[in-house]
Amino acid sequence: MDASASPSQASPRGRIIVKATNVTQQFVVGDETVTPIKDANFELLESSFNIIYGPSGSGKSTLLNILTGLQRPTTGTVLFDDREVYKLSSDELAFFRATRLGIVYQSNYWVQSLNVLENVSLPLYFLGYSRARASEVAQFALEEVEMGGYANKYPTLLSGGEQQRIAMARALASSPLFIIADEPTGSLDSANGDKIMGLLQRAQKENNRTIILVTHNMEFLPLADHLIHIQDGQVEVLQHESIKKATDELLAQMQQRLNRYNRQ
Ligand SMILES: Nc1ncnc2c1ncn2[C@@H]1O[C@H](COP(=O)(O)OP(=O)(O)O)[C@@H](O)[C@H]1O
Ligand SMILES: [Mg+2]
Repeated sequence: MDASASPSQASPRGRIIVKATNVTQQFVVGDETVTPIKDANFELLESSFNIIYGPSGSGKSTLLNILTGLQRPTTGTVLFDDREVYKLSSDELAFFRATRLGIVYQSNYWVQSLNVLENVSLPLYFLGYSRARASEVAQFALEEVEMGGYANKYPTLLSGGEQQRIAMARALASSPLFIIADEPTGSLDSANGDKIMGLLQRAQKENNRTIILVTHNMEFLPLADHLIHIQDGQVEVLQHESIKKATDELLAQMQQRLNRYNRQ
C-alpha cells in the first residue's frame, strides 16, 4: 500500500492511532454551561496503554465517548485508526465500533435470558459469525479470562468480579484493535480489580491491543504509557517517563487538601 495515501502518521515512537485536534466539549444545562474539555490536542500510539485520569465529574467519560464516536464534540476533530470519526455515516460508525472496539463498563448489561456463553457470543452474530463459530470463539475468550467453566451459568447470578471478567471476554472475543474500559474496576475489591488490570495488560503486551482505560484510581497510573490527565477542562497528556513525577505531584496536592481538611 502506498504509505502516502494513508493519513496515519509515522512517529519515531510508533504509529499514531488516535489523534484529537482542538477538541472542546460544552454542555448547556438550564442556564449553566459546563466545559469539561477545553481545546484538547493529543496523539496516542498503536499498542500503547493509555489511562484517562481525573476527579469525578472532570470529563473522563465524556472524552472517552468523544474518542469512540458516541459524543460529537462541540468543536474539533478525532482521527481514530485513520478514520475521521465524525465524518463517518451512522452505519459506517456502527461497523467501525463493532469491528475495532471492545468495551467494558463499570457495570455491564446482560441479556438476562441468555447464559454466559450466549451473552459473549451475541456481538459476534452482528459481525456475521455463524452460531457454531461464535460459540467456539466465545468459549475461547472465556478461557482466556479463566471463566471457561462458567459458560452455562447466567451472568446476573454471578459475583461482580466474575461478571467483570465475562465482560472482558465479551470485549476480547472479536479481537478488537482497542479495548476501551470506563472505570472497569470501579465496583470491585482490589483483588478482582487487579485481575482485570492484569487482563488489560495482557491484551496490550501479548496481543498488541491499544488500551484506553478511564480510572480515578491513582494506583494504576504507573501502568500507563500515556497518561491523559483531565482537570478543570484542561487535558494534559504525559508520557511514561514523566508519569512518576506527575503522580508524585498529584499525591502531594491530595495530601495538602487532606491536611487542610484535617486541621478544620
Ligand atoms: N450529556 C450531558 N449533558 C449535560 N452535561 C453532561 C453530559 N455528560 C456529561 N455532562 C457533564 O460534564 C461533566 C463531565 O462528566 P463526565 O464525563 O461524566 O465525568 P467523569 O466521567 O470524569 O466523572 C460533568 O459536569 C457532567 O455533569
Ligand atoms: Mg465517568
